[in-house]
Amino acid sequence: METIRGRTSLEIDLNGLKERVIDYNRIALDLGTGDGRYVRALAEQHPDWFIIGLDACRENLREHSRAKLRNMLFIIASAQDLPGELNGLISHITINFPWGSLLEGLLTGDSSLMHGLESISRSNASVDLHLNGGAMAEAGTTLEAGTEKTYDNLIRSGWQLGIPIMINASALRNFPTTWAKRLAFGRDPRAMALSGMYTR
Ligand SMILES: C[S@@+](CC[C@H](N)C(=O)[O-])C[C@H]1O[C@@H](n2cnc3c(N)ncnc32)[C@H](O)[C@@H]1O
Repeated sequence: METIRGRTSLEIDLNGLKERVIDYNRIALDLGTGDGRYVRALAEQHPDWFIIGLDACRENLREHSRAKLRNMLFIIASAQDLPGELNGLISHITINFPWGSLLEGLLTGDSSLMHGLESISRSNASVDLHLNGGAMAEAGTTLEAGTEKTYDNLIRSGWQLGIPIMINASALRNFPTTWAKRLAFGRDPRAMALSGMYTR
């Protein structure tokens, strides 16, 4: 699979990945990580966690992926075609403010995305999603209806989720991703949080 650090990409195989994560029990994946700011913040705060950021787009990752943290890795891949090296490895998945084909996959219950999420998850893996109103409007739906579709699709795929929770501008301001800050000061500072776990 292709990993990236600054402007440099590096192929890592399963053994290479195992060597990096061997000392860590909690391995988190941030899907659609954008510029990787969230991953870097988690890696700095939790030296005992290994945090992986994954995005289809490499350009935004240059700055944060350069940080010298041994518990952080960035992968260039599509969420619909997750690297097989991640299978059964991930104990926690985050998806923050998805748009484009990642959001579309959640809204339609795209089987390649849903199977990928199942494949990479350990038993009892947890998931946290944040969905925002503007991205839903661009996808042709509303925050409420889009959250419900996402919720139903994840439940159908075996995830157990709590009731969606509305979060406001002040919560967005304090949430450590670049997109959360942008939304907090934008025209539609509304988002929904979904949390749950995968039980096999
Ligand atoms: C609105 S940004 C949010 C970025 C980041 N999570 C944050 O909160 O700052 C959505 C991200 O999803 C990524 N994305 C969209 N579709 C994707 C896909 N199919 N696979 C991987 N990443 C995808 C985009 O490249 C973009 O970086």
